[in-house]
Amino acid sequence: MSTPTAVITGASSGIGAATARGLAGAGFRVVLTARRGDRIEALAGELTRAGHAAEARVLDVTDRAAVDAFAAALDRCDVLVNNAGGALGLDPVATGDPADWQAMYEVNVLGVLHMTQALLPALTASGAGTVLVVTSTAGHGTYEGGAGYAAAKHGARVLAETLRLEIVGRPVRVVEIAPGMVRTDEFSLTRFRGDAARAAKVYEGVAEPLTAEDVADTITWAVTRPPHVNVDLLVVRPRAQASNTKVHREA
Ligand SMILES: NC(=O)c1ccc[n+]([C@@H]2O[C@H](COP(=O)([O-])OP(=O)(O)OC[C@H]3O[C@@H](n4cnc5c(N)ncnc54)[C@H](OP(=O)(O)O)[C@@H]3O)[C@@H](O)[C@H]2O)c1
Repeated sequence: MSTPTAVITGASSGIGAATARGLAGAGFRVVLTARRGDRIEALAGELTRAGHAAEARVLDVTDRAAVDAFAAALDRCDVLVNNAGGALGLDPVATGDPADWQAMYEVNVLGVLHMTQALLPALTASGAGTVLVVTSTAGHGTYEGGAGYAAAKHGARVLAETLRLEIVGRPVRVVEIAPGMVRTDEFSLTRFRGDAARAAKVYEGVAEPLTAEDVADTITWAVTRPPHVNVDLLVVRPRAQASNTKVHREA
């Protein structure tokens, strides 16, 4: 019998990398995917040296042909963590760049769709599969400047909710994890296109934003419940964040 296998998208940094560590620690063989091969190779090597089963596969989740080839080459899949995603810009609706909106939709929604469609047969065949989608509190509300990202994350949330309705009765559960403010190395840097000062301002004065490990912990917890327990939705924020727009900042 081969080892239960978890595929993690966006495993080259932040929440995805921490989730790879968490699920490897929980006994899964982890298949790390992202566009940056050097990063996932390094993490897979680290996990392997620590005695875990880990592999790295370069994959762009917006490339359907590549996703299909990846799925065809996989011998089994018990867990799919759809984590790859992110935000671009913080522009108002009046001036937002349609290209940013399109890129956010492609990775946050169509990326999840491609991966889920490609791996659903293997997840079903596993007899106890889990599709997990990392959305955001931006999938449950909005904020000024956040329309493009919030629209995309609402899309990912609706995909998860609809899939749960459609596959009920099959041995696959659908879990949504919706984090609030998480201080990861790259999320805000990517959003502000490398502007480190602007990225740092997001977390300014916030005593303890969530860490990637905090979110990975909730993902690992949800995935390791007994198979009949479907954690539909878990919203997780730092204590200092009461809503998308109400954050306590110390002077
Ligand atoms: N940080 C937050 O405050 C926060 C809050 C709520 C939700 N989230 C969500 O949590 C997830 C992870 O965020 P994070 O904070 O860990 O950000 P991050 O460090 O920027 O990670 C994003 C990951 O997605 C991958 N990725 C991006 N585009 C991709 C593509 N086309 N194909 C494959 N992989 C791609 C990146 O890897 P490569 O560049 O190597 O491909 C990277 O590993 C995202 O879905 C994000 O929207 C984050």
